Parts: sequence; structure tokens; C-alpha cells
Amino acid sequence: MICKRLILLALALVVVIATGSSPADLDGTLRAALAGRGITELEPAPTISLAKVELGRSLFFDPILSGNRDVSCATCHHPTLHTSDGLPLSIGVGGSGLGRDRQLGEGRSFIPRNAPALFHLGDQSLSSMFWDGRVSRNAAGTFITPAGEVLPAGIDSILAAQAMFPVTSRDEMRGFPGDTDLTGRANEIAVFSDYDFEGIWNALWERLMNVDAYRERFEVAFPELTIEKMGFEYAANAIAAFEATAFTLTDSPWDRYLNGRDEALTEGAKRGALLFYGKAGCANCHMGSLMTDQTHHNVGVPPLGPGKLGGLIDSGRGLLTMNEGDRFAFRTPPLRNVAVTGPWMHNGAYQRLEDAVAHMLDPETALHRYDPQQLPAGLQPTVRLEEAMIDTVLATLDPLLWTPVELSEPEFDDLMSFLAALTSPSTVDLVRAIPDEVPSRLTVER
Ligand code: HEC
Ligand code: HEC
Repeated sequence: MICKRLILLALALVVVIATGSSPADLDGTLRAALAGRGITELEPAPTISLAKVELGRSLFFDPILSGNRDVSCATCHHPTLHTSDGLPLSIGVGGSGLGRDRQLGEGRSFIPRNAPALFHLGDQSLSSMFWDGRVSRNAAGTFITPAGEVLPAGIDSILAAQAMFPVTSRDEMRGFPGDTDLTGRANEIAVFSDYDFEGIWNALWERLMNVDAYRERFEVAFPELTIEKMGFEYAANAIAAFEATAFTLTDSPWDRYLNGRDEALTEGAKRGALLFYGKAGCANCHMGSLMTDQTHHNVGVPPLGPGKLGGLIDSGRGLLTMNEGDRFAFRTPPLRNVAVTGPWMHNGAYQRLEDAVAHMLDPETALHRYDPQQLPAGLQPTVRLEEAMIDTVLATLDPLLWTPVELSEPEFDDLMSFLAALTSPSTVDLVRAIPDEVPSRLTVER
């Protein structure tokens, strides 16, 4: 017996010497690294009145918010597709089908960017929305949005401020003059100019108020106001309440580890976490508890797709600020559930998470070697990989990425294990978030 124990002890010692640290040490080192970086558990889902959340759920799934009554928020952020759409670039108005099978309507074009997943967006620390940060909240708490002065008062969160805008985008939800809706009615939302945000919001509000069930539910959800005092911003508040409640999941192995449970992570995932917060440099940008610095970086993703503003190449933050240094910079994405939210990057350039991670380790090589074949046929010809374009993209590559990070194969696998540990098991039963029906009686996609 004693002899057997001695052998086991000797074996354990060999393991310790071979790996350099015992499991107990691994936790100690990792927890110290996390404490040093101020990484803590995420906020749980907020407690919001059921009436408001349920109203938001209906609105999120109701195609009534699109000009042609054919697209809802869920079309591109579907629970069965982990709050995204499974496509490199989204397909909005006029499209048909859901997920990977979704097809462009005749004469319509792809949305220029990938639909991000919607996890943890109710977190109070979030102050920037969209790949280019065009909706943000400044230090004084004021929302900065494309609507400028005409953004209505009464918007209660940055997530609600965001929800004001998908309905104004022609390609996503609004449609074009001359469009008719599914029932043959003229699209009255499409007639406003692109800058007439108030016109669009008022017309949508009128639509909602013509449905008795919505009228009643707004009255119950916002008892402090009379219906005459409300506008589309209250629809946005309700949508945000639903998103924050339904899509805040804090039961991933990583979240449980942050909650103090050492056993929640495999040793591989712990070693991967140490790489992420150490040698691999990922946390220089994917920093903090939400794993994003909420600023913008050019990480050298190959440009593809229809472009923005009538065909200009999508240079992200650069198109917004017109600063040369911001060209091709996009907001660092938060990484909860990243293993299930592909395709990855602002334009869905990568179909495999391994390739996206390999890209982050050595962007220049990855850009030169990028294989457009991984994209759907319709997008392959749009990839811009000519030498001059590669040079243009690399000209503003973030200095943090100038030196490639070299990882051994086992190290790479550990890093992947860590990213897999960010997946909440609840992501598979999000289908419960889908309502049976919506007040407009239009079809709920499932
Ligand atoms: C046609 C597809 C489509 C529809 C419909 C759509 N979205 Fe999106 N959504 C996107 C795309 C693409 C982006 C990224 C656009 C960008 O960053 O420029 C996005 C971005 C977002 C973001 C920002 C996420 C982040 O991390 O910054 C939120 C929140 C969001 N959408 C919620 C909604 C809501 C709410 C609705 C309905 C009112 C909606 N979306 C309708 C495709 C869509
Ligand atoms: C210089 C800042 C920076 C560093 C360092 C960095 N990232 Fe990123 N990461 C970003 C930005 C910005 C994007 C989005 C880029 C785009 O789409 O153009 C991104 C995208 C990603 C994505 C795709 C996420 C999605 O939802 O599409 C993954 C996965 C990722 N990074 C993992 C990592 C890993 C792992 C490391 C370390 C090896 C790392 N990143 C290092 C800034 C950084």
C-alpha cells in the first residue's frame, strides 16, 4: 500500500516537473493574472418587469417593424442561430429563408457586415455598439448616434439607442420606395429620406398603435406614462429589455470559474486562459470582464462584400471618422459564446474559428493566404486580395499585431479549449425565447 502511494507520488512529481506547474499552481497563477487585470464575474441578467420584457419579445420577433413586413430583428439575430444568422453577411429586406439557407431577394444586395451575436449587451459597462461604434455613450451619459439632435429623450440604455436604427436601414428592415409588403400594401415606411429619422419612427409608431394588442401592452409595460406621451423609443426600450434578459447567460465554464469554481475548467482550458491573458497577447484588446476594450483596431481582415455608402470599400471606423489612422479598424468583439457565433470577423471572412484565431496570431500571413473558397459562391468574387489592397489594409495594421505570436500545436489547442469554455450550455435551448405568436399575427420565424 505504502509502496503504491510512493509510486503515485513519484509519478505526480514527474508530471509536475514535466509540465512546469501543478494543477493547484495553475489555478493560483491564473487567478492572480485575472485579479491583476481586474477580471470579475459578469453582471447577471437585469430584473425588469415581465410586461416590458414580454412586449420586447413580441417586437423582436414581429416583422411588423420592417417596411415590407418580411423581416424581424430575429431574422438576423435568431435564437436557434445563437442570436446571429449563420451567414458571413446578412440578408435583409426581400430575402427568404432562415440561417445558412437564407437567399437574397431579386435585385437586393447583401448587408455590408456580419450580424454580431447579442450576448451580454445589457451590461452597464458597455458604451459602444456596432462594428464601427456609431452608437455610443459618452462620459456624461449622452448617447451619440447617427440621428444626432433628433434622437428622442426617454431612451433608457445604449442597447435601446441601438434598437432605434435597424428599422431605419433600407437594406436591413425599411425597404425601398415602390416596395409593396407581403400583403400587397404600399410600404409607407420607405418613403422617407434616409435622414428623416423622425418620419420613420413616427410612421412605425403609428403602425404599432393601429394594433390594439400593442396599444394595450405598451400601456401596461410603461404604466408611468400615457400612450400619447410615448413614441417608437418605448418600443426600443422594450426590445432592449428583452435582449438583456434573454441573452445574458452566465453559466459557461468560464463564468463558473470566475465564480470561484476551480473544477469548472479543464486543465487545457486553464493553460489556454493563461496564454490568452499572457504570451498570446489577446487580452491587450479583448480586455476586461466582457473581453473587449470597446475601441477599434485594424487587425487586417480581408475586405469583402458590397461595401458601404454606395459601394465604398468598408473601412469600418475610418468611414465614420475619416481619419486615415482609423482605416479598417473595427470594434473589438466581446467573446462570450464565440465558438458558436460564426462565421467570424466583421464581414464573416472566416468559416472556422481555428482560422480566425490563427489570423489573430499572425494577421499579415493570414491575409496573404486567405482562401475565398470558404465563402458562399455569391461573395467569393467580392474579396479584395490584390497586392495593392493588401498593402492598403496592412498600412494601418494595429502595432500590437506587427510581431506574429508563435504558439506550439499543444498551445494552440489549449487556446481553442479556452475559447470553447466561453460557451454557455444555455445557448442550445434559447429556442424557448421564441414566442408562439406576435400581436400583428404575422409569421414568427422558427
Ligand atoms: C438584416 C439583418 C439584420 C436585422 C433585421 C437586424 N439586425 Fe441587428 N445587426 C445586423 C448587422 C449586420 C449588425 C452589424 C452592423 C454594423 O455593425 O455595422 C447588427 C448589429 C446589431 C447590434 C449591435 C451589436 C454589437 O455588439 O454592437 C444589436 C444590439 C442589434 N443588431 C440588434 C438588432 C435589433 C434589436 C434589431 C431589430 C430592431 C435588429 N438588430 C435587426 C443585422 C441585422
Ligand atoms: C490589436 C487588438 C487585438 C488583439 C491583440 C487580438 N484581437 Fe481578436 N479581434 C480584435 C478585433 C478588432 C476583432 C474584429 C476585427 C474585424 O472583424 O475586422 C477581433 C476578432 C476576433 C475574433 C472573431 C470574433 C467574432 O465574433 O467574429 C476572435 C475569435 C478573436 N479576435 C480572438 C482573438 C485571440 C484568440 C487573440 C489572441 C491570440 C486576439 N483575438 C488578439 C482585436 C484584437
